[in-house]
Amino acid sequence: MIRKVLAVRFVAVAVAAVVWAGTAAARTPVSAARGRALFTGREPLAGRVRDHRSDLPAAVVVCRGCHGASVVAPGAAQALAPAPAIDRALLLEARSRRGGPPSSYDLPAFCRLLRTGADPAYVLVAREMPVFDVDDARCESLWRFVTAEGRAR
Ligand code: HEC
Repeated sequence: MIRKVLAVRFVAVAVAAVVWAGTAAARTPVSAARGRALFTGREPLAGRVRDHRSDLPAAVVVCRGCHGASVVAPGAAQALAPAPAIDRALLLEARSRRGGPPSSYDLPAFCRLLRTGADPAYVLVAREMPVFDVDDARCESLWRFVTAEGRAR
């Protein structure tokens, strides 16, 4: 009887260990380094024009392509709405954005913007800013990168 109980316990522990190892392996890493890879396009992201179904080419939705400091080559097509340089100050300081009340970003607000185009005051940003399929790990990695102190662009 005791043996049976122990055997059942052992199986339960073994199953739990396998499940735990599986989820740990499936969990994608969160880091500013990964955020940089996502921001610069080294790790591709799927994105599209808000309310459109098909994805834009991966190269078109690279954050740095629009938000980088000195990326607009002379003669290159300019975005209709200017894309601001994304940094800690822009995101964390309370400011009026697109005519809305003063607001600032935190991680959930940042992820909502990327997924839906709604800013922290629920004002929709210009459609030039794509919407993205970002899971939590990618979003948090991006957040860590763009809010890093003294980030070199
Ligand atoms: C095709 C160009 C384009 C790409 C690619 C792009 N953005 Fe934008 N983004 C914009 C434009 C334009 C705006 C300003 C929209 C407005 O003010 O209505 C914007 C706005 C934003 C804002 C809001 C800033 C604020 O003050 O509210 C954030 C944050 C942002 N983008 C982050 C990103 C991130 C992160 C990526 C990559 C995952 C990215 N963007 C990719 C064009 C782009």
